[in-house]
Amino acid sequence: MCGIIGISAKKNVSNDIVQCLKHLSYRGYDSAGLSIAKDNEILERKIQGKVTNLENFLNNYPISGNCGIGHTRWATHGEPNTINAHPHTISNVSVVHNGIIENYHDLKTILEKSGVNFISDTDTEIISQLINIELINGKKPLEAFKNTITKLKGAYAIVAIFRGYDDLMIGTKLGSPLLYMKAKNMILLSSDAYSISDYGSSVTYLEDGDIIVTEKSKISLHDHSLKTIQRPSKKIKKRDKDGLNGYDHFMIKEIKEQPDVLSHALSYYLNFSKYKINLEKYNFDFTKINRIIISACGTAYFAGMVAKSWFEDIANIKVDLDIASEFRYKKMFFDNKTLSLFISQSGETADTLAALRHAKENDQKIVSVVNTVESSIAKESDLVLPIFAGQEIGVASTKAFTCQLATLASLVLFLAKKKRHINASQEKALIEELVHIPSQVLDVLKYENDIKKIAKDIHKSSSAIFMGRGATLPLALEGALKLKEISYIHAEGIASGELKHGAIALVDKKLPVIVLAPDDIFYVKNLSNMNEVYSRGGKIILVGKVQNDQLKDLKLTGINIEVNGKLNIPIIMSIPLQLLAYHVAKLRGTDIDQPRNLAKAVTVE
Ligand code: G6P
Repeated sequence: MCGIIGISAKKNVSNDIVQCLKHLSYRGYDSAGLSIAKDNEILERKIQGKVTNLENFLNNYPISGNCGIGHTRWATHGEPNTINAHPHTISNVSVVHNGIIENYHDLKTILEKSGVNFISDTDTEIISQLINIELINGKKPLEAFKNTITKLKGAYAIVAIFRGYDDLMIGTKLGSPLLYMKAKNMILLSSDAYSISDYGSSVTYLEDGDIIVTEKSKISLHDHSLKTIQRPSKKIKKRDKDGLNGYDHFMIKEIKEQPDVLSHALSYYLNFSKYKINLEKYNFDFTKINRIIISACGTAYFAGMVAKSWFEDIANIKVDLDIASEFRYKKMFFDNKTLSLFISQSGETADTLAALRHAKENDQKIVSVVNTVESSIAKESDLVLPIFAGQEIGVASTKAFTCQLATLASLVLFLAKKKRHINASQEKALIEELVHIPSQVLDVLKYENDIKKIAKDIHKSSSAIFMGRGATLPLALEGALKLKEISYIHAEGIASGELKHGAIALVDKKLPVIVLAPDDIFYVKNLSNMNEVYSRGGKIILVGKVQNDQLKDLKLTGINIEVNGKLNIPIIMSIPLQLLAYHVAKLRGTDIDQPRNLAKAVTVE
């Protein structure tokens, strides 16, 4: 997984490539590089670390030219060092690649036997080596490129430039995204539309197997047999230019945006004044559905876990939930009354996409809940439910999670009503819960100073436990994920009832135990679990219903959350967990928006 960019223009493209790479950094930031074809040479600069390292490097050692490619890497094959950084230039050609070449080892073995020396440990280098051999054997760039890609197995978006062809770029894609924009005096190729949205207002997405050739201001698209083809262009939204708006990090900015984006998402799916759900506008037949399969990764998976309890409880629809990387390898018992639902912020997560395709091959109707409506997952779905979170830049997902929940809650109510599992007054009460969510989020955000104090108290811990029951179990898992992602503190999410079956062995006076106990049917049981922690000296942080006597008796720290509905508990209670992770990480001085080893869109399996 990585971000790739290619620019051809009537001016030096070096700085434009770097600026676009900055916007692609969410796809990986282990190393960055660019190369430019000029005067029968290929000039290259690459460096370990983020795009800003590349920018500094280029300030000291500039390269310039009218046509070049750039890359920001999330390491898969080979360490994140400079040698493994892209582009991979082998005498006549330079290549940037996003994805994985699954048969690179076999291809490499063959080439090594014939005397070819490999420089890097990457799978990508095989592409450069193969194209170079074709060129040495007298093939023209397009033929050399095409002959090479026919040998590749896996998923990829590739862009190449060629020595001796100062204005030529050739690219293709299979599985990973690639699009182009014709801007004023410029052609841009990129992994995503946002990264180049400063240059124009429409882009054209390549389909799998398409080959794009750009030369000066000319663009041609070809299918696998090199027949010329056309693809429609699409209007795109401008990248969020507000930057940080005075915040220290995108993560905290995005946490604070939640009242707004949740209002936006909810008002799209609900008619607030009539207390009605607006999903009838979709021409999608839900009538036969009596089972749903949900699959996703990471935070989106935990949104799926919340949704499972909602679908089952409120709409009386059985849900099977599986992590996307497991989904394809299991017997899923597909049938024509089952709906397959995939949740993904980016819409590009390779495991989720592969799970979706597996469901599709099994004749499933596909619904996706995504933030990026131009994404591969959205394109391959029968019905797309956008979450309207706006661009999420912080790698640790926050507003996308709550907007996924808001969207899923709307779908749950719609199906519950369609299945006549709720009556009009129940429907009204549940919608009422949703209506108040944005203002309740605003209220909970006011606890930030209290949460900062808790963060100060626990930020030196080496481990933490989050526990919940029922609706808050997925939140315990999500809270632990948030904390470990950005603070690097080891954290575990457990079902409160499981404490006594293992995790209790970890409890001592240094261990923070974050208990998620709203005012619901599990409250008394959660209280017992808190006592178990207290009597072993653990440090309890209660998020939920906090009673004054507990503050004294259990010496706990509390964040009092006064919601107790089925739909609002998971959304509202996730906010203090996001703030806690953020402030702990801030005190520890970690790279909050781009934590080590992670990436925002994981396009490898
Ligand atoms: C990565 C991110 C997580 C995210 C997961 C799924 O692991 O670091 O924050 O939840 O991918 O991403 P998606 O875009 O499919 O929601």
